[in-house]
Amino acid sequence: MSYVEDPGPGRGAVPPRAAFTSDAPSLPLNGTWRFRLSPSLAAAPPDVADPEFDDAAWDELPVPSLWQLHGHGEPAYTNVHYPFPVDPPHVPSDNPTGDHRLRFDPPHAWPAGPALLRFDGIDSCGRIWLNGTELGVTKGSRLPSEFEVGPLLRPSGNVLVVRVHQWSAGSYLEDQDMWWLSGIFRAVTLLSRPPGGIGDFWVRADYDHTTGLGTVRVETATDVVLDIPALGVAGHPAAEPLELPVEPWSAESPRLYAGTLSTVAERVPVRIGFRTVSVEDGQLKVNGRRLLLRGVNRHEHDPRTGRVVSSETALADVLLMKRHNVNAVRTSHYPPDPAFLELCDEYGLWVIDECDLETHGFGPLGWDRNPGSEPMWADACLDRMRRTVERDKNRPSVILWSLGNESHTGDNLARMAEWVRHRDPTRPVHYEGDHECSYVDVHSRMYATPGEVDRIGRREDDNERRRDLPFLLCEYAHAMGNGPGGLLEYRELFEKYPNCQGGFVWEWIDHGIAVPGHFAYGGDFGELIHDGNFVIDGLLFPDRTPSPGLTEFAKVIEPVRISADPAGIRVANHYDFASTGHLDFTWLLEEEGTAVAQGVLAVPTVLSGQMTSVPLPSLPATSGESWLTVSATLASATTWAPAGHVVGWGQLPVSAAPARPAPPVRGPVFRTAGQLLLGAGEFDAVTGVLTALGGHSLHGPRLDVWRATTDNDRGSAPGPSEASQWLEAGLHRMQHRVIEVDADGDELVVRTRVAPPAQAFGLFADYTWTAFDGGLRLRVDVTPDGPVPATLPRLGLVMALPGTFGSAEWFGGGPGEAYPDSCQAVRIGRFSSSVDGLQTPYVFPQENGNRTAVRWAGFTAPDGTGLRVDGEREFGFTARRWTAAALEAARHTDELVSGSLVHLTLDVAQHGLGTAACGPGVLPRYRLEPRKTSFALTLRPVAGGVAN
Ligand code: GAL
Repeated sequence: MSYVEDPGPGRGAVPPRAAFTSDAPSLPLNGTWRFRLSPSLAAAPPDVADPEFDDAAWDELPVPSLWQLHGHGEPAYTNVHYPFPVDPPHVPSDNPTGDHRLRFDPPHAWPAGPALLRFDGIDSCGRIWLNGTELGVTKGSRLPSEFEVGPLLRPSGNVLVVRVHQWSAGSYLEDQDMWWLSGIFRAVTLLSRPPGGIGDFWVRADYDHTTGLGTVRVETATDVVLDIPALGVAGHPAAEPLELPVEPWSAESPRLYAGTLSTVAERVPVRIGFRTVSVEDGQLKVNGRRLLLRGVNRHEHDPRTGRVVSSETALADVLLMKRHNVNAVRTSHYPPDPAFLELCDEYGLWVIDECDLETHGFGPLGWDRNPGSEPMWADACLDRMRRTVERDKNRPSVILWSLGNESHTGDNLARMAEWVRHRDPTRPVHYEGDHECSYVDVHSRMYATPGEVDRIGRREDDNERRRDLPFLLCEYAHAMGNGPGGLLEYRELFEKYPNCQGGFVWEWIDHGIAVPGHFAYGGDFGELIHDGNFVIDGLLFPDRTPSPGLTEFAKVIEPVRISADPAGIRVANHYDFASTGHLDFTWLLEEEGTAVAQGVLAVPTVLSGQMTSVPLPSLPATSGESWLTVSATLASATTWAPAGHVVGWGQLPVSAAPARPAPPVRGPVFRTAGQLLLGAGEFDAVTGVLTALGGHSLHGPRLDVWRATTDNDRGSAPGPSEASQWLEAGLHRMQHRVIEVDADGDELVVRTRVAPPAQAFGLFADYTWTAFDGGLRLRVDVTPDGPVPATLPRLGLVMALPGTFGSAEWFGGGPGEAYPDSCQAVRIGRFSSSVDGLQTPYVFPQENGNRTAVRWAGFTAPDGTGLRVDGEREFGFTARRWTAAALEAARHTDELVSGSLVHLTLDVAQHGLGTAACGPGVLPRYRLEPRKTSFALTLRPVAGGVAN
């Protein structure tokens, strides 16, 4: 059998060992290589390994890279399905094969003797030669391989050749939900290995929270000396346990002690974090404390380079996570570039380090011949686990090992767990696919509903072993498109039940690929089978701009919660370890959204898990609607954010809006040719629709229930989605029948029935218009006529404004978008934005940009003329330069083209978002059921701005 289709783990590599750097010479071999892509192994040049082979006519390619992102072949996206026939371990004969060649000279002083050639990642299979001699074959794309090359190295003119195959038997083990991309995508390094040096080591650094003592002991094959200057440790024989008082490591206080391991031949800098992971009382603990994992699933993705992620990008991820209150990462679904884990150590993030294993595509085939249970894959499975653990064993941030993802269950998985437990008894084993929890140490689920989590929290499980384990959601709150909705309900459960220890939002970043004009997703590269935009499901947009979902998540999981309390202001500390000692508290009083006073709030230090109440500061009197915003900010800069960075905030109502007496009604309605005139308004005499106000031509408002469907509306579960029910009911194509236009006296009453074609149900919508000095008042009464067969996407009005009304200002919820089940991150204030700036550029266009809890909003032209809307109760609005129908039709952001109008929606209600793109839909309390509804608002033409 060809090495490509051999289900074994590859050949020729030295045993796996820890990732580290030392003072021994090393030579990065990244840079520009020669490259040639052949359509198959058979078509590839037979003699590339020959050092004399002439590659002058080949292309150049950067290493590391993924060749499909450099003009060779195309990316392809599938979630579950293999993009080739499931015929294990065989792969297509048309197997794109990329030959990579590099000529290199070690530096002059390069020592003779042993040397290793290290590959941190080759996707999916590489056969390697140095100076014409084969070193071996590597598989396990996201895992390192090292080959002994000392005797082969020449002082100059070395020729390194790597033949990479897009498909291999290993591809069956790498069916993660992501782009299929190929190449040498992580670093290549030549390492001198001095005789008497440190080949491998394991720093075991535990912390006993009952005594405050740390114990450090280093496992190595050679005699090594340990120095830790900050602890006064000098020349200590590293293998001998040393017990001493230390500050422990945690994600909140990632105390690392710089040290050195040395032999006469080599010095290795180490950073030691003391911490002990345990499962006790059915809880996952570190240093004796229960953790609450406020986590995200992180794939490695860059919109231009794919899974080639620079250290700057890895750092950007860590900083964004820390600044958004994220405290944990699951490295879905493979070990990340090792640099990322060092950053997790340094900045403080709890990590589930996941093995590079997923065989999801066997699921639709009934798991028949699944590699998790077939003997022929046993070695490969174990090899992957070993390489994961050995590489990352020195990382204090890693607190759980994960066997992989979505690979069903079987002996090979059980054996991986057994091996891990034997090799590293200090970290529990995670694997969601072991539903019975027979070989894992934590119970893990994905996308469980709040109801299911509640049952697990109540320990009502019949399976005794599972019932008594700590529980976490390795995936929840699918962040695809607009969402996730319903985060708050999960937080409440995690705080209610000690065994429900949080989870990891799916997922961190949209995997959009940058192409001219937009970000591409599945199907954009002509793939035969693909899963469309299911790869666009992150809290960050592909360019790492935080989406509203991340802002919402940051607020929901904030470690300090500030709320109203009978005694004034309540401050609750939700850190797992830290007190509030590192925080300052400030307050800001705003009246109608305008700052009136501010100050510092004296809050005594609150310990982890405790709360306190402090009296309100003395506040100046205000007459308009006023809110007190209290913020907890970093008192001094940390490694991840400047002083003043807000980690938590709360708003307390101080005074309500004064009742405003309704202005006297000014009638009557006048009739002219084809028109009705009422106050500043002009109406169409036949339809009763407002056509101008204060001289500005308008159209509407008319009743409207449609929104461009979100990914969550469209859902992915079997059975009709919310969106399909809406479409079947015809809510996207409602027609307006005018029943009566009654224009006698001071009121203009327009009675209509709004209903879709082919359906018997409808909604009566009565519009009652009156004029007052300066504007119009509109009351809308909506009454369902017959049973409406679905929820409503929204309930409100739509109207068209002149395109010049391009600036929005409002008093209400902001600054960002919000929906009923995703509105924790908005505060009440006064905000402004251009209409263009109100849009959230979801990679796959859909409903977005809704502002909620709005008291008034204005839309103005550059000359200050425009329209102001005041609600008699709070309303929501969107304003866009295209219609909801155009938004629904668009597939990429650049298909949204500004028209000549601004389309404004004014809503009394929206349906929630939910996370039905993968997981539970909208919870009952956030569903918009059709019912009799009345609301009223005023419309006023303005000149010189909206706020006067
Ligand atoms: C999970 C899977 C993830 C991802 C997610 C949906 O089942 O583990 O890799 O596919 O669903 O986006």
